[in-house]
Amino acid sequence: MINLSINVDKAATLRQSRGGSEPDPVHAAAVALVAGVDGITAHLRGDRRHIQDRDVELIRKIVIHKEFNFEMAATEEMIDIALKTKPEQCTLVPEREGELTTENGVNVIKEKARLPKVVETLKDAGMRVSIFSMLNEDQIRAAKDVGADRVELFTEPYGQAFGTENEDKEFEKLAKCAELADKLELGLNAGHDLDFRNMRRMKTIPNLLEVSIGHSVFSRAVFIGLENAVKELLQVIKS
Ligand code: PXP
Repeated sequence: MINLSINVDKAATLRQSRGGSEPDPVHAAAVALVAGVDGITAHLRGDRRHIQDRDVELIRKIVIHKEFNFEMAATEEMIDIALKTKPEQCTLVPEREGELTTENGVNVIKEKARLPKVVETLKDAGMRVSIFSMLNEDQIRAAKDVGADRVELFTEPYGQAFGTENEDKEFEKLAKCAELADKLELGLNAGHDLDFRNMRRMKTIPNLLEVSIGHSVFSRAVFIGLENAVKELLQVIKS
């Protein structure tokens, strides 16, 4: 069964747009948990543009018997916060100043000298480490080499191609990377641009353990409410 982790960054983005306290991403996390999700994801960016340190502390407190997936750049600052927060899973992501959202996986090959120590530090403190991965077989092999437990495949190309003539081609790329991860005994997560429509095909990837979904569920929530939007997604994923 695939686990669903709801990414609450979008609630924080809306809050920060007015500089006040609403909507609170911690409330969003609570609603998602009550609706039955398996975990909560939050990305504390270096520039604090959406999720704030206080959100991370409070999400940690309310995610009980479920998983907190902490998305982080592999910086000293974020490693310290992860060590204090102790999420069940740290997902290493790249950050580029000015990007609208995470644009691709980590270039693990380029950072191969530095990442083993980062991964080891987090794993020694009891956290599972996943690396947001480019759809590239050498990058996935490099993720294994630096000691990651899992890779999170970047599903934006598939999500954006869904329903177009490019869908099959993009899905095949994902499926091949998924097979390689399985062969390397890397756990498999996926995320970016997934929704209750394109998840139907994602479910056919046999070794997929977890998806993290943010934008589409908060977009649906504007019209049908967050609890309903989460339940709609759960129904597709768990049926
Ligand atoms: N996974 C990672 C690593 C991400 O950076 C994001 C976006 O914050 C997501 C998953 C969720 O993507 P989306 O908001 O498109 O569902």
